Amino acid sequence: MSKRLKAFLLFFFVIAQFTNCEAQKKTIDQKVDSVLKLMTLEEKAGQLNQYSGDWISTGPITNDGDKQNQIRKGQLGSMLNIMGVKHTRQLQAMAMESRLRIPLLFGQDVIHGYKTTFPIPLAEAASWDLNAIELSARIAATEASAAGIHWTFAPMVDIARDPRWGRVMEGAGEDPYLGSLIAKARVKGFQGKGLGNTDAVMACAKHFAAYGAAVGGRDYNSVDMSLRQLHEFYLPPFRAAAEAGAATFMNSFNDLNGIPATGNSYLQRDILKGQWKFKGFVVSDWGSIGEMIRHGFVKNNYEAALSAIRAGSDMDMESRSYKDYLTKLVKEGKVPASLVDDAVKRILRKKIELGLFDDPYRFCNDEREKGALNNPEHVKAAREVAAKSIVLLKNGNNLLPLSKNTKKIAFIGPLVKEVKQNLGFWSIEMPDDSSYIVSQWQGLVKKMRSADLLYARGCGIEDTSRDGFAEAVAVAQKADVVIMSIGERRDMSGEAKSRSNIHLPGVQEELVKAIHATGKPVVVLINAGRPLIFDWITDNVPAILYTWWLGSEAGNAIADVLFGDYNPSAKLPMSFPRTEGQIPIYYNYFNTGRPATSDNDRFYRSAYIDLSIHPKYEFGYGLSYTTFQYSDLQLSKRKIRAREKIEVTMKLTNTGKYAGEEVVQLYLRDRVATVVRPVKELKDFQKVKLQPGESKNIRFIIDKEKLSFYNDKLQWITEPGDFDLMIGSSSADIRLKDVFELVK
Ligand code: GLC
Repeated sequence: MSKRLKAFLLFFFVIAQFTNCEAQKKTIDQKVDSVLKLMTLEEKAGQLNQYSGDWISTGPITNDGDKQNQIRKGQLGSMLNIMGVKHTRQLQAMAMESRLRIPLLFGQDVIHGYKTTFPIPLAEAASWDLNAIELSARIAATEASAAGIHWTFAPMVDIARDPRWGRVMEGAGEDPYLGSLIAKARVKGFQGKGLGNTDAVMACAKHFAAYGAAVGGRDYNSVDMSLRQLHEFYLPPFRAAAEAGAATFMNSFNDLNGIPATGNSYLQRDILKGQWKFKGFVVSDWGSIGEMIRHGFVKNNYEAALSAIRAGSDMDMESRSYKDYLTKLVKEGKVPASLVDDAVKRILRKKIELGLFDDPYRFCNDEREKGALNNPEHVKAAREVAAKSIVLLKNGNNLLPLSKNTKKIAFIGPLVKEVKQNLGFWSIEMPDDSSYIVSQWQGLVKKMRSADLLYARGCGIEDTSRDGFAEAVAVAQKADVVIMSIGERRDMSGEAKSRSNIHLPGVQEELVKAIHATGKPVVVLINAGRPLIFDWITDNVPAILYTWWLGSEAGNAIADVLFGDYNPSAKLPMSFPRTEGQIPIYYNYFNTGRPATSDNDRFYRSAYIDLSIHPKYEFGYGLSYTTFQYSDLQLSKRKIRAREKIEVTMKLTNTGKYAGEEVVQLYLRDRVATVVRPVKELKDFQKVKLQPGESKNIRFIIDKEKLSFYNDKLQWITEPGDFDLMIGSSSADIRLKDVFELVK
C-alpha cells in the first residue's frame, strides 16, 4: 500500500473517530436536553439534592422526613453511604417509581479500597510508584462498582504542610508536583477505561480548595493566602485531576480569603468551570451549603442556596437548602432557571455516561459483588502496594533485614495484635467480617513458621499504665531481637482529628526506652496517619520502619520487609518536624534575606534559637537495604531558550548486596525572578530497580513547563536567568549538581 494511500486512510479513520465522538457527545447532549425538557422545576431541584443513608454516617446526620418517599417523588438525585448491591437495588427501584424514572447516583468514600483495603493515601504517596497507586484505585473501583457504587469521593488532593491536621492521611503530602501526578494516577485508576464500564466509578477531586492550609492545622479552620500561593502550591493537583478527566469535584468546608469555598465563584466558576473548562459537576461537602450561615456569610438557608447555586455548587450534600428553597428562588426571579438547568444537565450527563438511563441496575450484580470483593488478585496487589509504602527511616548496624533463621523474636507493643486498626481512617469495614485483615502478629507468625515468636502488649496506645512493662521487659530478655509496634490509634488522624501534640500518645516511648535498656537489638514500627514526633527513638533505636496504616495486608507486608522479601523503597511525601513548634516546615521554602546554612547561624533565616533549622526527616527521605551511587551527570546544553529542552542524564549504580529500588529525584531552583522562588522544587523523579552491582543511565528532560511559574500578575511565565539543577536521594541528600541558563 502506498504511503499516500496509508496517510489518507489514517486521516479518514481519525476524522471518522472524531465525528463519531462528536456524534456520541451530541447524542448524550441530546438525551440530556430531552430529559431536561420533561422535568418540572421541583424535579430539577430534586436532582441537586443528596442525602446520606443511615448505614454509616460521615457527617452530622439529619433525621427528617421520609427519604424513601422523597426518592419515589423524584426529590432526590443521589445518596451516599449505601452499603452493597442489595440496598442500592432497593433504593434504585424506588427511584424507578418516580414520574420520570431518573436513576439515583450512589456515592461513597472509597478512599483507599472497598473491602480489600490498601494503605492510607499518604502511605501510598510514599511509594512514589504511580503504577501501584493507579492499580490501588483501579481495584478499589472494581470492588466498589461491584457493590453498587457509581461514584467515589476521592482522590483527596489537598496539599498539606501541617501534620497536626488529621486529614493529611488522606492526601499525597506537601508537594504540588508529586501531588499532581498522584491525583492523575488516582483519577485514572478510579475511572479506568471510562464511565459506562461497570468496573469504573466517577472520581471526585476534593476538597476544592486549599482545605489543607487550615490555620493551625485545625480542621475546618479558615484559610488565607495570596492568589499566587493558591495557584502555585494548592491548585495544581486539582488541575491535574480535571485534566485527567475527573467526573466530579467536591468543594471544601473552609473559607478562603473570607469567602467559603461553597459560595466561592472565583474557585468554582472562574477557575474550575471557566479557565479549566470543567464539564463535570461539583458536589458540596457534607452540609457545607447550610454551614455558610455559621460562617456568617449568609443569613439563612434561603440565602445559602442562592449563594451556592450562583457560585457553581451543583449538588447539595445533606444541607437541604436546594430542596427547600431553590424552586422559590427561581420563582421569585432571584436565581435564573438557566443556572439550575446547567447544574441539572451536568448531573444528568454523568448518569447517562454511566449507562444508568439504559439500565439503572447495571451496577447491581450479586455475582459480580461476590467475585470481586477481596479476591486473591486484589489481596496480592494490596500486599505489594503496602510493602512499597513502608519507609525505612533508620537501619543502624544493618540490623534489617532480619535473618529467617533468627531463633527467638519478641514482638511487643499495643499494635502488634490489633486487627482493624491496620485499616486506618476512611476505610470501609465489612459489618460482620474482619477475617480478611492480616494483623501484624499474624504476618510474622506466617512468615516465621518455626522459630519462637514471643509476645507482650507492654502498654496501651493512650493510657498511662506501666503495669505491662515488667512482662514486656522479661519477654524481651528471652529474645534474640525485639520488634515493637507502636503509634497512634487509627482514629487519631482523619476528619476532625487534628492534634496539637503529635508525639507518640500514652507511655509508648517509655516502653521503648525500657525495652532498649535490656540491650537487645530493637526494631520499631511506627503506625500513624501523619508524621509523628519520636526524637528519642530516632536518636537511640537502631532500626525504624514507618508503617503508617497499611490496610488489610499490613501483617504480610510488614513481614515481607522485616525479613527482606521486599527491600523498602518508599520516600517521605511530607517533612517530619522535630517539635510541634517547628510546624509548618516544608522543603520548598523561600530563601529569605537571611538564610541559615547551618544550625549555628543563629542570626539568620527565621531559625529558632533552641532548635535545629532542619526537619527530623525531610521530604523525599527514605533508606534501602542496599546503597546507590549517583554519577556521570551530563546536560545536553547549558544555555537554552524557552522553547528548547535540556536532556539530563546520570548513572545510578546499586553498590550494595540487595536488589532494590531508588527514587531518583530532580529538583530545580530558579535563582533570581520577579517573585522569589523556592530554594528547590521537585520537577521530576524516576523509581528505578537495580540488581546488586547493576548500573543504569537515567534520563530527564527539562522543558519550559518545568521552568515556569506564576508571577505577581498570576501569569504563567518563564524568565531568563540561572537555574540550579540538583539530583538526589531526597530533598536534602543532593548527590549531583549543575547549573544552566535560560536565555531570552
Ligand atoms: C465528609 C468529608 C468528605 C466526604 C463527605 C462524605 O464530611 O469532608 O471528604 O467525602 O463528608 O462522606
